[in-house]
Amino acid sequence: MDVRTVDHPLAKSRLTVMRDARTDNATFRAALHELTVMLVYEATRDAPLRTERIHTPVARTEGHWLANPPLLVPVLRAGLGMADQAHRLIPEAQMGFVGLARDEETLQPTPYMESLPESLANRPVFVLDPMLATGGSMAYTIKLLVDRGATDVTAICVLAAPEGVKHLQESGLPVRLVTASIDERLNDSGFIVPGLGDAGDRQYGAV
Ligand code: PRP
Repeated sequence: MDVRTVDHPLAKSRLTVMRDARTDNATFRAALHELTVMLVYEATRDAPLRTERIHTPVARTEGHWLANPPLLVPVLRAGLGMADQAHRLIPEAQMGFVGLARDEETLQPTPYMESLPESLANRPVFVLDPMLATGGSMAYTIKLLVDRGATDVTAICVLAAPEGVKHLQESGLPVRLVTASIDERLNDSGFIVPGLGDAGDRQYGAV
């Protein structure tokens, strides 16, 4: 599996804001928005382009557009905080939604929402979820996409645990990972260490 870590001073500083336990919900959301721009920028680095002749006010030149814009799929709740920013960078993208809640005891994902196009053949997909912990939620989401014909999936996560990366690697699913950091480990409660806590709660408050 191709794993790309965005190693940039601005990404590190936004990630630090998100990690800091003193950061309030609004500041956390703002840092997530800014970091999402950097992650999506990296995720589209090698995206194929279509070329078109255009006129500037001065001369003719070649213009470039994404040849095949990805479907964006935020995983609710926490992925919602990445959706708007990703959409701003790729305004021509369509968006699907998957809602999952991880059971606090078993750490298994429980689905509660799914809104996806019927066919995803020949269509790249960007799954947006700040956290890749055990990898169960991401693997579940990618399987939904593969069932619809997807063969080109990018998981865009702020943080990943080595356990989650291994889970995806061993799953054989067609996925590559773009992340700002691969942290040390998971703790006994399934939280990434050092991590940033619960990305849903830190954006929207505990429910
Ligand atoms: C978190 C996170 C991921 C998942 C990661 O969501 O946003 O979706 O857990 O864990 P995993 O890799 O072990 O599956 P959570 O279930 O807490 O829901 P929320 O987004 O509504 O807070």
